[in-house]
Amino acid sequence: MQIDVHNLSFAYGHKSVISNLSFSLSSGDYLVIRGKNGSGKSTFLKCLLGMNPVKNGMIFYNHEDINNFKDWTSLGYVSQKFEEFNYEFPITVNELLNISSLKVIKQSHRLRALDQMGILDLLNQNINNLSGGELQRAFIVRSMLNVPKLLILDEPTASIDKLSTDYFYKAVNQLNLQGVTVIIVTHNDTIEFLNYSHLLTMNNDMTFTFLTKDRCKIAEVNI
Ligand SMILES: Nc1ncnc2c1ncn2[C@@H]1O[C@H](COP(=O)(O)OP(=O)(O)O)[C@@H](O)[C@H]1O
Ligand SMILES: [Mg+2]
Repeated sequence: MQIDVHNLSFAYGHKSVISNLSFSLSSGDYLVIRGKNGSGKSTFLKCLLGMNPVKNGMIFYNHEDINNFKDWTSLGYVSQKFEEFNYEFPITVNELLNISSLKVIKQSHRLRALDQMGILDLLNQNINNLSGGELQRAFIVRSMLNVPKLLILDEPTASIDKLSTDYFYKAVNQLNLQGVTVIIVTHNDTIEFLNYSHLLTMNNDMTFTFLTKDRCKIAEVNI
């Protein structure tokens, strides 16, 4: 998925959060977004997801204005907050992966992915009984099995253990090598495990820097 962000500004009421953000990604790029709490990272992802309507500036997916975009099922998303999650129906992890699949996925693939994320034993558990970290891993498995064109991840490993985190980053790298465009908000301390191609740093004063990979090492020193 090719993405063009052009002079994007966003405010909640009178509170401006994003001001004149512009950058472009080609299909298969891997963008890491970082910045302090409150710098607008999640807000920006919600603009990309169509949850925050774009009124000032423009976002294009494959040259199509996001306001006309319809192919939302080509996007995968793992959100930052799972503690607030409460599913209406008492479904199991297995059912969650089934009902939200965009294509037919072999049960053996599903079981392997669950096993690699360390939650195979939760297959038949009601998802409302899972801890935040377990649920997050279930959603990560779901986002990876669907192989989207664009995978958007908001601090996806915040509440999972190191082993699952390592597996997850490897799986994301693998998806990216298959051509999936990846946008991930993450903490500074995990950035070294990521095979990113671009780095967007968002600041609380709404300034930003956007660097391609060869410039990222320079940024490491300054942040
Ligand atoms: N739904 C909302 N309504 C009003 N203000 C919000 C809302 N969501 C986030 N904010 C505010 O917008 C700013 C950016 O938040 P957020 O995008 O969550 O930052 P980050 O993800 O970088 O920590 C913060 O000041 C936050 O309080
Ligand atoms: Mg956030």
